[in-house]
Amino acid sequence: MPATIITNIKSLVNIRTENQLLRGLQLAQLPCIENAYIVIENGIIAEYGKMDQLGWTDNTNDNLIDAEGQFVLPAWCDSHTHLIFAASREEEFIDKIKGVTYAEIAAKGGGILNSAKRIAATSEGDLLRSAQRRLQEVIQLGTGAIEIKSGYGLTVEGELKILRVIKKLKAISPIPVKATFLGAHTYPAEYKENHQGYIDSIINEMLPVIATEELADYIDVFCETGFFSPEETETICRAGMHYGLKPKIHANQLHLSGGTQVGVKLGAISVDHLETMDDDAIKALANSNTIGTLLPTAAFFLRMPFQPARALLDAGCAIALATDFNPGSSPSGNMNLVIAMSCIQMKMLPEEAINAATLNGAYAMEVQEELGSITVGKKANLIFTKTIPSLPYLAYAFGSNNIDKVMINGEFF
Ligand code: NIG
Ligand code: FE
Repeated sequence: MPATIITNIKSLVNIRTENQLLRGLQLAQLPCIENAYIVIENGIIAEYGKMDQLGWTDNTNDNLIDAEGQFVLPAWCDSHTHLIFAASREEEFIDKIKGVTYAEIAAKGGGILNSAKRIAATSEGDLLRSAQRRLQEVIQLGTGAIEIKSGYGLTVEGELKILRVIKKLKAISPIPVKATFLGAHTYPAEYKENHQGYIDSIINEMLPVIATEELADYIDVFCETGFFSPEETETICRAGMHYGLKPKIHANQLHLSGGTQVGVKLGAISVDHLETMDDDAIKALANSNTIGTLLPTAAFFLRMPFQPARALLDAGCAIALATDFNPGSSPSGNMNLVIAMSCIQMKMLPEEAINAATLNGAYAMEVQEELGSITVGKKANLIFTKTIPSLPYLAYAFGSNNIDKVMINGEFF
């Protein structure tokens, strides 16, 4: 198999010989090589270095690519999405413009329940086709690994339908896909007055099938006032953990819900959202191995205060960035926009944002052995920028498409 040799790279970004989850100040260190080359064999990074160290190859079969003026980065690792949904929700978007609140929309059967109704009426085949289109779109935007949640089913059939679609997508996707069971996204109408009944259905009806069919890697709960309490979150997560599913929790989005603390207590891989944090929650996260995944496009879309990234980094937390791609709070899977918003609105440095969206994002879905940095042996899932003046320009020129090409498994996508 001939190698692919990419030469004259303006800067090869996030090169690492060892894997390490980055916390606090470490995120500001983004190792790069200027004027670099990289060699790819069988879709895997085989070698890289400075141009003047590139041994001459006269193997005419090799595929030579000149990347003059281009930055080459590891592809984004988007560790939090709800990519499987049946329909968009612009009516609610307009309602919100007119002043209706998120809670009011939820109370009249909108929001998550609206998406659940649409899922029930859509076939697995149609869900798979729309998910494939969205996956193609986000790969073109530079995403090289993705986590996808259920949570718009809210019945045994609906949740299993979504998870089976994710499993099919896993089998055909060119990029790694991780599946998360979010049956505890909200209470379906028939269980409005019987929360324990729905929790029992999650634990006794959904989880055993999910385990038998190997439909999920993680378990998630929307730990939030009016949704699932910290105690309910713990019960549901422990039931998932019994089947080997590690927790990744929706925490501290709208209120100080206790979700961060319960995630830390359970040893969750990540607690996600974190718009609403106090000192206690920040300290708990900083003193743990749990990753705080920030979803700035959700805060933006819901017109909420952005996540306190600086306070989290100053406290020494491990931070990842993700899109939360979903029809209700973040109808965008564009990681480039997430990076820009992190720098513009959360005052992250571009280096911090890039680390949070690559290596730490890989850790937040446990694909760090194969993705997240330029490391020999990792997959050649790479972003080639257009000719841009500097790396910070990626976050600065937020409305431009700064990506020239995306490479997946060593091939241009
Ligand atoms: O992650 N916060 C909970 N769930 C989704 C949005 C749900 C919806 O409105 O569809 C989120 O933001
Ligand atoms: Fe979410």
